[in-house]
Amino acid sequence: MDSTTIYDQVHSRYTATAQAAASSSSHHVDIVAQAFGYSTEDLASIPSGSNIGLSCGNPLALASLKESETVIDLGCGAGFDVFLAARKVGGKGKVVGVDMNADMLAKARLNASKSQINNVSFVHSRITAINLPDAAADVVISNCVINLVPHAEKHLVFKEMHRLLKPGGRVAVSDILTKKPLPEAMKNSVALYVGCIAGASSKQEYEGWLREAGFGNVLVVDAESDLNVYTRDEEQACCGPSIADEEGKQIQPSCCGQQTDVDGGVAGDMRRDLKDVDLNEWAADYKYKTAKQDHENLEFLVRLLTSALLVFLSTLFLTVFSMFFRYERNRSH
Ligand SMILES: C[S@@+](CC[C@H](N)C(=O)[O-])C[C@H]1O[C@@H](n2cnc3c(N)ncnc32)[C@H](O)[C@@H]1O
Repeated sequence: MDSTTIYDQVHSRYTATAQAAASSSSHHVDIVAQAFGYSTEDLASIPSGSNIGLSCGNPLALASLKESETVIDLGCGAGFDVFLAARKVGGKGKVVGVDMNADMLAKARLNASKSQINNVSFVHSRITAINLPDAAADVVISNCVINLVPHAEKHLVFKEMHRLLKPGGRVAVSDILTKKPLPEAMKNSVALYVGCIAGASSKQEYEGWLREAGFGNVLVVDAESDLNVYTRDEEQACCGPSIADEEGKQIQPSCCGQQTDVDGGVAGDMRRDLKDVDLNEWAADYKYKTAKQDHENLEFLVRLLTSALLVFLSTLFLTVFSMFFRYERNRSH
């Protein structure tokens, strides 16, 4: 698929997702989030309607956010991680969500205003060129978005992350990557593309783009979650085996039979078109954390070492010169 088709399809399916979100079961979206490590407390703490079942990991579990930090969420959807991050950074911190879909952002803004959350803002933009100043953030997070960016443009996302971070700033990302090359038929499936699988890259490509953008110490690891949670239909998810919550307690959701036949957006596409595909065979959700090198500190260290070396060489030179001078004087006597 060419870039224009990808942007059109991703835009239209996520618009349908944002519009369908109000009618979808919150049990199912909670099950998806819990499968990726969000706690019941996390889910209860955010405005209803901000988790619409689109995450593929939990970048905040990696980010170690602190009070007063500024966070940018690339591809924030309806604000799920934005609101969780906003609680962690507190009133003196702020969180900026970026998304190219106006309907998603309208939901996110509505969620913020109805819950009176004031330390968040939203920017309507593609994540390959964002109208935000350099060094604006302490932390950049992203959850299940970079796989949706056309392959030829993905490297730009990592460059934007690097540009947006302050020296020493951190990146914490969850995303889907491939385990093995996908056949052409899978790569061209719209449902698989908008469902975050067909546009996924390999781990090696990802690590290369991160390094090329200037990040060091990159460790991309398989988070080992079950991707088939997306394609299990609500009835199965509700009536099937119970799942364990973060404390190991078994959860048995109680929404059996609440299937709707409205256009369910991406989730509906996946349950309809991909229920016979074992997503775990082809792809996995990966997580990684890295940091922008603090060049100011590095430059200071280099300057200090250079000065120390100069002092040492000058002292050595003076000592050798005075020894030589004394030797010559003694010899002439
Ligand atoms: C799978 S959803 C994830 C949403 C959110 N991170 C979450 O976990 O709920 C992907 C989101 O990324 C947005 N998106 C996809 N491609 C994008 C791009 N190139 N630039 C900005 N946003 C993009 C979509 O509009 C959608 O809201």
